Parts: sequence; structure tokens; C-alpha cells
Amino acid sequence: MSETTEKPSETLVEITLNDKKISAPEGSTILDACKQADIDTPTLCWAENLTPVNVCRVCVVEVEGSRALVPSCSRPIEEGMVISTDSERVNTSRRMVLELLASSVELDRADKEILEWITYYGSNPDRMGNSSEIKTSKQPVKIQDDLYVRDYERCILCYKCVEACGDDAQHTFAIATAGRGFEAHISTEFDVELPDSACVYCGNCIGVCPTGALVFKTEHDMREDNSWDPDNQEVTETICGFCGVGCNLELHTQDEKIVKVTSPSDHSVTEGHLCIKGRFGWQHAQPKN
Ligand code: SF4
Ligand code: SF4
Ligand code: FES
Repeated sequence: MSETTEKPSETLVEITLNDKKISAPEGSTILDACKQADIDTPTLCWAENLTPVNVCRVCVVEVEGSRALVPSCSRPIEEGMVISTDSERVNTSRRMVLELLASSVELDRADKEILEWITYYGSNPDRMGNSSEIKTSKQPVKIQDDLYVRDYERCILCYKCVEACGDDAQHTFAIATAGRGFEAHISTEFDVELPDSACVYCGNCIGVCPTGALVFKTEHDMREDNSWDPDNQEVTETICGFCGVGCNLELHTQDEKIVKVTSPSDHSVTEGHLCIKGRFGWQHAQPKN
């Protein structure tokens, strides 16, 4: 499914990006070149610590000579490529992708930038009908343990969690897509409850989920009682003390309590991924009530 992405080399390739000639390392993707040129590009299924799976198509650009729009997150640049990221065709396509997703999936807890792209591209999910009635992903929240919650009503099937649980990080393969078409969904083997599945509770799937479908139980509970307040949260970096690997932890605190733990995706040790101890083993550090 995914197109391979080669590692950037020292050899430079010249391309034309929105009418400007630029040089970028051979093996870079179009998305890398856009970042280098400070061009904001929406992405949903891409993450810097995962292999591109090419499923959302929100990152598409126009490449001269190519009949179809091209996913920038996975297509390597080629010498002389002429790329447009801001044409009417590109903007219409991005608007439609975001509109269709937002009309079928609850996105009110999605990453802020997704909501900003919906506004920027002028997507109007209500055009598809009363969105509260037509959500195709309607289903109950799965709360099966004290660590994290799966709320697939918010899932856009970007596959990031599957990649993080599989080849790209955890190699546990506890979750995968099941079903086809409208029935497609993320599931454990035979849809067993998470504690009975192969899941080892590393939380790497939570770390990459862009829509709030997978969240810490703390975040879920605080959102439900309206006390989740990201603007009043601090992030403190520290090193995990559980073993000698040296993983960087980002402790997100609100009212002097840890509410969730992440790791920087550009960190050379973790690449954003942790184990159960680093991700969830912080109760002993909480103030006693
Ligand atoms: S917590 Fe880890 S093992 Fe469990 S489903 Fe998520 S990525 Fe896979
Ligand atoms: S649960 Fe999150 S990460 Fe997994 S496919 Fe759905 S939106 Fe993507
Ligand atoms: S971000 Fe490129 S296809 Fe999803």
C-alpha cells in the first residue's frame, strides 16, 4: 500500500515549486520540499515517525505531466519536477477530503491544525446533511481498562495506530483494520476486549492518533466533565527513570497533576514511542489528595 520513501542524500535535485526553483536533497518527498520552502501542507495519515500509508489524500499536489493529483507525503521529488500546491484543483480536492471526513466522523476533539485546515479550505460538512444524523462512524466509546479509551466515533481510519502498533514501532500487531467499505474499522483480533488482546499498553497508538479517537483515560474523563483545558497545561521534559535506555518524556500537567505523557517524535531514542512504564507509570509521582 505504501510507496517507499528513500532517505534524503547529499545530492541535490532541482524542482519548481509554486513557480519558484528550489533544490532539495535527492530522496526527499514533495512534502519535505514543501516544509523546506515553508509551505504549509495538510496531512492526516502521515507522521514523521511513521511510514507513509497514503490513505487520506489530503496532502495532494499537482505535478506537471501527471494526470492524477499526487500525494506529497510519499512521492519522492525528481529532477525538473514542476509542482503546484495551491492550484484550484488542489484546494478543491483538499476541501472535499476534509468535508467528507468531517461529515462522517466526530472531529471536535481532533488536533487543532485539522480544525484550522477545515476552516482554511472552506470545507462545509453540513452540506452533506444534518451531520449529527449522518455520522457513519456512530458507536459506543470503548472503555475497557484504566489506561486508555478508544472512541472510534472519532476515527478517520488514517491507519497511524495500526502502523505504530505494527512494523513502525511496537511490532505487537494488536490492532488492524477489519471489515470493508462502510464497515471498515480498527479492531483487535476477533474484536476481543483490549485487556484480552495482544496489546501491551505501550500507548504508541495514542501518541499518533490525530483525532482524539485514542486518548488517555485521564483525558477522556476530564473532557467528559469539561475540565480538560489544554491552554492551562504545561509540558515539562524529563528522562524516564524506569530503565537505562534514556527515553525523553514530556509530562503534560494541569493543576499540578500529570494528565498525559508523550515523547518528542524527533527524539533519537524514542522517535515519539514509549513503553507502558514511561507512558502510564506516573501515578507514584502525583500529589496525594
Ligand atoms: S497500546 Fe501499544 S500494543 Fe496496545 S494497541 Fe496501542 S500500540 Fe498496540
Ligand atoms: S484510531 Fe486514530 S490513529 Fe487509529 S486509524 Fe483511527 S484516527 Fe487514525
Ligand atoms: S498525508 Fe499524504 S496521503 Fe495522507
